[in-house]
Amino acid sequence: MKILVIHGANLNLLGKREPEIYGNMTLEQINQTLIKEFPNVEFEFFQSNHEGEIVDKLNSIVDSDFNGVVINPGAFTHYSYAIRDAVLALKIPVVEVHLSNIYAREEFRRHSVIAPVCKGHIAGFGHLSYILGVESIVKLKEPERDDKGSDF
Ligand code: DQA
Repeated sequence: MKILVIHGANLNLLGKREPEIYGNMTLEQINQTLIKEFPNVEFEFFQSNHEGEIVDKLNSIVDSDFNGVVINPGAFTHYSYAIRDAVLALKIPVVEVHLSNIYAREEFRRHSVIAPVCKGHIAGFGHLSYILGVESIVKLKEPERDDKGSDF
């Protein structure tokens, strides 16, 4: 199972940037936590402050063997139709994640132009949002089973 994790604008500053909102973990620590939590997942991590670079990255996996994408677009969430279109070009599940609960914040953060074209969206759990995002892609790949282990 291969998952691409994309971190958008200003997330390179995690740990130093508004820690009361985004927590104390650095981006590297979040990435390492994912690697530890999901030893069977092959991760690629990508961070950029440039919208076009994120579009290029998403375009680059159109015909690849990736099974899903977890993306925190940062502020691009709220206005990037280019990232939205790049997500639409993918056939694999894309999950949007946010450290903060964007619905409890300023008006302009309460709307995502990307979430409606994603498989789902997780916000407000700090670094756990990333873990839940990866978990959802892993679970989507597994066959559904009842509590006796039989397939539904
Ligand atoms: C964020 C929320 C965005 O509104 C903000 O611009 C960020 C981080 C989050 O993870 O909570 O950069 O995506």
